Amino acid sequence: MFCCLNQIAYYVGLFVIGLVAVKFGFYVQRNFFRKGYDVHERYGKDSWILITGATAGIGLSLAKYSAKVKGLNVVLLGRNQEKLEEAEKEVKAANPKIKTKTYKFDFNNNSGYESYLKISEDLRDLDISMLVNNAGYMDLRPILTLKEEVMEQVTQTNINGLSLLTLIFAKRFAKRDKRSAIVNVASQAGYAPLPGNAHYGASKAFVRSLTKAVGYELRDKLDMLCFSPGFVTTAMTINKTGPDVVTSDDCCHCIFRDLGYETENQPSTLHEFVVFLVSPVLLINENLPNLVLSPMMGQEFKRMEDLRNKEK
Ligand SMILES: NC(=O)c1ccc[n+]([C@@H]2O[C@H](COP(=O)([O-])OP(=O)(O)OC[C@H]3O[C@@H](n4cnc5c(N)ncnc54)[C@H](OP(=O)(O)O)[C@@H]3O)[C@@H](O)[C@H]2O)c1
Repeated sequence: MFCCLNQIAYYVGLFVIGLVAVKFGFYVQRNFFRKGYDVHERYGKDSWILITGATAGIGLSLAKYSAKVKGLNVVLLGRNQEKLEEAEKEVKAANPKIKTKTYKFDFNNNSGYESYLKISEDLRDLDISMLVNNAGYMDLRPILTLKEEVMEQVTQTNINGLSLLTLIFAKRFAKRDKRSAIVNVASQAGYAPLPGNAHYGASKAFVRSLTKAVGYELRDKLDMLCFSPGFVTTAMTINKTGPDVVTSDDCCHCIFRDLGYETENQPSTLHEFVVFLVSPVLLINENLPNLVLSPMMGQEFKRMEDLRNKEK
């Protein structure tokens, strides 16, 4: 009996080591050798990228990177005209040779299919080949203190708007001759139920599921990537910094590197490692990560509240 248990432990150990070795091999290949596709060759020469939430944070960084490094024409979508004009100037400065366009649109004031369809129709003359559903909203706090209008705002921006744009552009892209791409920005908050930031976490779990399912369904025509970072230094986190936090600029390279190769990715080794650890723990018991995540969200709520109170 003891001998049999020993043998089982030996083979289970061997299996786990093999799995870790394969994962590590993919990590090395991805981070040190992969160059990413030539976007002009794959998605069409001189085509456009449409980025929602392009006035700040990850969206603005990605708009500048798309122009400067990838030479893509950029449509910046945002809800504030002044911010849009400022962002457009920055993108132009990053690469004066590309074309830019701004589109004013507020997800909170638009819930119906028609208003989202109008975005695509208004931009019908542009050969848009890539959509980045980046706009998002978060108010990290315990559920009993979450205002209902904020909950609606999160639902509207992170779930409803993102779903409708995914549907509308998937249909539009299906008619293009070349392949096209949709990048949906989720978050590590969507990996496990997240006490202390429950509704935002659930909205990002939705994004992960939708992106992977649609990506598989339309794999012959579309490259779909779910981008799921941990903490990023932006207005959303009130400029959180720390060893586990990346900048919005850090988010850009890996999106283009992995588009067409992966279904989901993260911007740093540490963020990848967190996912690597959380996934097997979730298989054992889905409440186990909460032992760490719940106090972490509590601390984050306190940090943000303190900063907000100081600003008052
Ligand atoms: N920061 C993080 O730690 C982190 C981590 C994981 C995932 N993410 C995700 O990354 C994405 C970008 O976030 P970020 O950190 O870059 O945040 P951010 O700096 O606050 O930028 C969010 C962008 O979305 C726009 N936006 C928000 N609500 C909108 C609405 N109702 N209509 C139109 N545009 C709207 C904002 O416009 P305004 O400038 O007008 O507000 C801004 O351009 C989000 O989906 C977020 O959930 C962020």
